[in-house]
Amino acid sequence: AEISAPVIALDGPSASGKGTVASMVAAQLGYHYLDSGALYRLTALAALRAGVALDDAPRVAALAAALPARFENGRVFLNEDDVTDAIRTEEASAGASRVAVLADVRAALLARQRAWRRFPGLVADGRDMGSVVFPSATVKVFLTASAEARAERRYKQLIEKGSAANMPALLHDLQARDERDAQRSEAPLRQCEDALQVDTTLMDIAEAVNAVMAIVEEKLPDA
Ligand code: DC
Repeated sequence: AEISAPVIALDGPSASGKGTVASMVAAQLGYHYLDSGALYRLTALAALRAGVALDDAPRVAALAAALPARFENGRVFLNEDDVTDAIRTEEASAGASRVAVLADVRAALLARQRAWRRFPGLVADGRDMGSVVFPSATVKVFLTASAEARAERRYKQLIEKGSAANMPALLHDLQARDERDAQRSEAPLRQCEDALQVDTTLMDIAEAVNAVMAIVEEKLPDA
């Protein structure tokens, strides 16, 4: 019998729809939801604000270990500061990808991520949820989509927000980030052997949620 709470690990490249799918699956199951990417984004933002160089591993790791972060009703706080939007800027995204290559930073965030494993269960999204943080996860899903489909989704999001967006530039940035996430030596993005792949290139959000829920129901019939 399982003594620790079940974990559903959802890994995949950026803009694959992981975050939306993971939070909707968590809501359907009544599980907790960990957005691990937000911790890397918060770390980058904390470093940028403190004037710490993003490649200064010991100092960035110290910030990560002491991150005064709070998640409340879908908002993210650093101390009393609502940084929900600030961690999604291009600068914070690029910074997150840079601090995420540092082994000391990843180690500093490990215990914090594992502490999210609580009953009745956890849906965790990121790059290394199934491989490093929760290797004993009950369900491992690798959510992916073609780079073009992901760039197009990001393009639509930006246009909807009224921001300027340039498709070739978005595709280029996405591929550069994929490359950095996949090629780094620490916890590179890759599909675990025991993960099931869900390719959402031709799916909308509802279809992607249903595809993940079908896998969950098979592996966790009581959830
Ligand atoms: O999922 P996201 O786009 O919010 O992630 C932001 C950055 O953090 C991205 O460059 C990958 C990195 N990341 C990571 O290395 N490990 C995770 N578990 C989650 C995110």
